[in-house]
Amino acid sequence: MMLPKVLILNGPNLNLLGTREPEIYGRATLADLAAACEQRAVALGLAIDFRQSNHEGELVDWIQGSRGTHGAIIINAAAYTHTSVAILDALSALEMPIIEVHLSNIFRREAFRHHSYVSAVAHGVVCGFGGFGYEMALEAAARLIGTVFANDQPAGSNR
Ligand code: DQA
Repeated sequence: MMLPKVLILNGPNLNLLGTREPEIYGRATLADLAAACEQRAVALGLAIDFRQSNHEGELVDWIQGSRGTHGAIIINAAAYTHTSVAILDALSALEMPIIEVHLSNIFRREAFRHHSYVSAVAHGVVCGFGGFGYEMALEAAARLIGTVFANDQPAGSNR
């Protein structure tokens, strides 16, 4: 049986987690977050694709590429959250659950972080819980995918 796959995207500078402003973003590295997500996904019956890029166009390519291959997307677009119409447009073309994540509580921070282009198309947002927010987002993804399948699949389907 193929497990539903969740694409977890991380935007610019998140490759520096662990050493980047640890008082804001914590001491866990991106590899630590990926490992925690992997573990949580197994428990939820999901597969994940965990990726990071510093390049807006690469993130857009990955979002486009998720159509037909992934059942949900979890995205921490980092600084592009606040600037990228291209990422908003790519996400708008998807017909799968979109969950926005931020490690920090962006609403407690500078005013320019209070607006998110991603929020306009996200089913929900998790922010302020550090790396644990990714696990919360996976829980939400599992539930949303389950709901979608429950509505869309004939009874007896085992997907
Ligand atoms: C962030 C918040 C953004 O404002 C910032 O540009 C980031 C990380 C977060 O996870 O808290 O790079 O998305």
